[in-house]
Amino acid sequence: MDAHLDLLPAGIREAHAAFPAALDACVDLDGLLRLKGAYVGRDGSHAAQLMELLKAAPKEQKRELGAAINALKNAWEEGVKARQEALESAKKALDAARNAVDPTLPPPLPAMGALHPLNRLMDRLVDVFRPLGYHAEEGPEIETEEHNFDGLNIPGDHPGRSSSDTFYLSEHPELLLRTHTSPVQVRVLKRLAPELKRRGGIRFLAPGRVYRKDEIDPTHSPMFHQVEGMLVGKGIGMQHLKGTLAYAMRALFGADAKVRFRPSYFPFVEPGCEMDVSCPLCGGSGCRVCKGSGWVEILGAGLIHPNVLSFAGIDPSEWSGFAFGMGVERLAMMLSQTPDLRLFFENDQRFLKAMGGLD
Ligand code: DAH
Repeated sequence: MDAHLDLLPAGIREAHAAFPAALDACVDLDGLLRLKGAYVGRDGSHAAQLMELLKAAPKEQKRELGAAINALKNAWEEGVKARQEALESAKKALDAARNAVDPTLPPPLPAMGALHPLNRLMDRLVDVFRPLGYHAEEGPEIETEEHNFDGLNIPGDHPGRSSSDTFYLSEHPELLLRTHTSPVQVRVLKRLAPELKRRGGIRFLAPGRVYRKDEIDPTHSPMFHQVEGMLVGKGIGMQHLKGTLAYAMRALFGADAKVRFRPSYFPFVEPGCEMDVSCPLCGGSGCRVCKGSGWVEILGAGLIHPNVLSFAGIDPSEWSGFAFGMGVERLAMMLSQTPDLRLFFENDQRFLKAMGGLD
């Protein structure tokens, strides 16, 4: 190629001689693109000038001149390409270094855990009753028939006792997964019966997990949560139950919350009732959550059946009381307008974070 350089104009020869240094001087892709434009660009570049020259050259010179021009153009193009690759890999290395771990920094903190929304709601229920003198009690999830049924005046032939409704432990058929939190009543009454006189009464809340053989669907789960409440004292009647629960519902749902009681049957209370609260979402005017009625069912309750007190060793002619039990998922679904109970057990963090409003 160099043999033919003398065919070329002096300006081009100088530009060619300056090319390696000009290439080295390109420290970024922008600079390199400008250099590329000047040497091999479509218009006004050295290469474009050479093409003009070739066009104008006499026929017998064209071959030799063409070869010289091609050699130059190739040299420039290859030079630009090699420089471009070098710049790009240098940039990659720099980016990698920038993103690299800095071992001098303190390690990132692990994400903080938080209480599950159902646990927060149960804590809140306990907090509502605490100023009334209630404390929280716990009972085991594996129970005896005595605590889960017998001590609660539930007869031997009660359908809830059957193995189609209740999980019995196959290795220990006398044990079962408790079907409600009511057996905590039996345990606490038995435990505190000897000190009842000295204490002057008993009042507690018992939140916890319960189990039933239900198929999983949007409103059922074989494991769910209840909160049980109980008060024992002297001369306790429905008025105390109503006053207590009306207070609790106002504390939970706001000062405008109203309650109503409907007669119902549970073996461990007499009389028994169910309580509705004015729909916390529409305030009672009727909406999707209360199915237009303005009321939602919240819990079962009643005055403690004398047999329950006797079973625990408490004299029902001297002592009386009330009890209530509510489903936590139902309450949580209503408060958060969650249409599907299963969401509470999937532990999708997006859902759990959105449940912040429950407490
Ligand atoms: N244990 C009942 C259930 O699981 C709920 C209940 C009703 C609890 C009435 C009570 C009560 O303490 O008095 O359906």
